[in-house]
Amino acid sequence: MTNISGRQVVSLNGSWKALIDPTGTGDWLRIWEERTPVSKTDFVEYSFTGTPELHVPGDFNTQRPEYTYLEGTVWYKQTFSYTRKKDKRLFLYFGAVNYLADVYLNGKHLGAHEGGFTPFQFELTDVQEGINSIIVRVNNTRQKNGLPALSYDWFNYGGITREVSLVETASTYINDYLVQLTKHSDHEIAGWVKLDGGNAGNQEVKVSIPELKISYRTKTNDSGMALLRFNARPVRWSPDTPRLYNVIISSVSDTVTERIGFRNIAVSGTDILLNGRKLFIKGVNIHEERPFKAGKANTEADARVLLSWAKELGCNMVRLSHYPHNEYMVKLAEEMGIMVWDELPVYQHIAFADTSMPGKMELMLREMIKRDRNRCAVIIWSLSNETYSFTPSRDKALIELLGKCRMLDTTRLNTVVINNQGYSNNMFHVHDSLYKYADIISLNEYIGWYVPWQGKPEDVKWEINYKKPVIISEFGGEAKYGNAGDVADSWSEDYQAKIYREQVVMFRRVPQLAGVCAWLLVDYRSMGRMRPGYQDGYNRKGLLSEYGERKRAWYVLRGYYDEK
Ligand code: GCU
Repeated sequence: MTNISGRQVVSLNGSWKALIDPTGTGDWLRIWEERTPVSKTDFVEYSFTGTPELHVPGDFNTQRPEYTYLEGTVWYKQTFSYTRKKDKRLFLYFGAVNYLADVYLNGKHLGAHEGGFTPFQFELTDVQEGINSIIVRVNNTRQKNGLPALSYDWFNYGGITREVSLVETASTYINDYLVQLTKHSDHEIAGWVKLDGGNAGNQEVKVSIPELKISYRTKTNDSGMALLRFNARPVRWSPDTPRLYNVIISSVSDTVTERIGFRNIAVSGTDILLNGRKLFIKGVNIHEERPFKAGKANTEADARVLLSWAKELGCNMVRLSHYPHNEYMVKLAEEMGIMVWDELPVYQHIAFADTSMPGKMELMLREMIKRDRNRCAVIIWSLSNETYSFTPSRDKALIELLGKCRMLDTTRLNTVVINNQGYSNNMFHVHDSLYKYADIISLNEYIGWYVPWQGKPEDVKWEINYKKPVIISEFGGEAKYGNAGDVADSWSEDYQAKIYREQVVMFRRVPQLAGVCAWLLVDYRSMGRMRPGYQDGYNRKGLLSEYGERKRAWYVLRGYYDEK
């Protein structure tokens, strides 16, 4: 279901018992059965009594030293007490668990979920009167056919990384809804409401927006789906006017309220239009890394710090790379007037030919869209980043996924980020045919850092053969904060600033440029970054250190964004 914070919930956040199981022995021991020795001679090789506790939400790696580099299984346990209520249903909701989750209630398997960054839920039909026990087997081992797959440039934080809630609903409840402006209209709001339960069919549903004097009634069909379409005159949401409205959705037995904004986002030729006006995207990439103290970001306070830094930089958009971030980030960005680029972790070396892949990608796409489809701040669904091979399986998989994305949401733009470009004689050739299928050409380039190393972006010319808006979705270079040096030293703040100065000169000459998005706001942990003294396990392409200290390149980009 969507909009958990708009429902009757009991939080299960807090301390959970945890058993570390690097060898996976717990499966064989059937830990979920929670056998307890009755007599001294009973032989049980595990127990949750006396185990350390882990805080939920939170990654396990940064909570106890023995978990630091764990890529394996941890068994979590929590109990809750419940009094059965007539005509009520109970769901167990997880904001995200990285990467595989198997959930047990009172010793019985409730279900499983794959994917570390999207929400999921199970209905608790067998909940008992009194104390109930939940056990979650969490495994963050990298998977060859996972999303992402085996190698990626961020830290593999495992655990129950986002919030866990018990959600109590009416027996027929509002499961999901869409209330957004239609693509090109400033006054037509359309969408649907989906009821779930025995009385979902032929029910009256009401959508009210008191500030717009809207009170609209519609009816569900036999399968519980009600379409809606009405006229209203909202102040359209934009970074300058981040206006949101209270929207109340009610059925006979349920009511859900949510703050929703309305805007139009479209492409016209090589321009991106927000509310019909040409937009230049001033973006920055962010990883879901907690500011000031290494770990996974997962609180509203973390989101506020990160987004305030993006605002101070002059950004009007954040790219939440390379996976859906926690909901606080998206909701707060919307309140603060920052557009959002949501992305799937279809990153670099994905096993596109694996038969499970289309299904996995589609499910994750659905989960991302289901959570964020009413967030007007989200303007772009990005379906992949730097998929390397020009194989028929990659093209087929991503073209199909783009089609599914369009079917699920017609109100936003989509993209697939590419870095397969040719570079010769100072000419940058953009030629990945996937561009033909997406709304926006997004490409990552590291002229001055990777290709060509210490090259000069300002001298480079661009050749783009498709008439679509272009966003440079990544550019930059590494610098250790405080490392003075001269402009010829890699790793120095001065060299990073030089790359940014020259990139800015180049941007003025890139045809069709509709926006740029720096890589990236804050230094973040990545185990493959092993240069001692400079990296020490961090990707140092941040404009800020992990403590928020501004590097010289920060001021260069802020100057460009001010001017834009
Ligand atoms: C890539 C990639 C980022 C990566 C960055 C880098 O292009 O998209 O995830 O971390 O380059 O090398 O720092």
